[in-house]
Amino acid sequence: MRKVSLSVLLLLLLSFTLAACGGGGDEEAAESGGETSSVGDAANGERLFNESIIGAASAPGCITCHSLEPGVVIVGPSQSDVGTRAETAIEGMSAEDYLRQSIVEPNAHIADGYTADVMYQNFGEELTNSQINDLVAFMLTLK
Ligand code: HEC
Repeated sequence: MRKVSLSVLLLLLLSFTLAACGGGGDEEAAESGGETSSVGDAANGERLFNESIIGAASAPGCITCHSLEPGVVIVGPSQSDVGTRAETAIEGMSAEDYLRQSIVEPNAHIADGYTADVMYQNFGEELTNSQINDLVAFMLTLK
């Protein structure tokens, strides 16, 4: 008799544990299903873009060369609409890929009217992946 009630208790415990795990899994699925951007955190990207010094080697920040005002050229092109321009900049390349490549490999494509080697070249080594993802997410919103 005692043996039976013990196994019932164990079964009960087991089913509670399974139910708890199942519940947690559902919650996670619901959370990730609600996300809209897969790229990065645009709000953090905006903060990074506006820093005057950025990255492991204290390089000049994006905003020191790129204005966010339409038509204002500091050193590089205004980024006020770069999210739109990036969509058609390179045929067959997504806006996201174009922006990422422009940061980590600036000489891969030179924007019309500008020269190579002017944009800071080492962001690919000096920024973390997540910083680059956040910057890309921010720039995709610039339309
Ligand atoms: C020293 C000045 C300088 C800094 C600092 C700089 N850029 Fe640039 N950037 C340029 C110049 C000049 C160009 C245009 C030439 C080219 O295409 O490489 C450019 C081009 C670009 C382009 C592609 C051109 C376009 O508008 O379609 C992107 C995107 C870009 N920069 C993003 C960034 C981001 C993000 C940062 C900060 C992490 C940054 N830049 C920092 C000078 C700079």
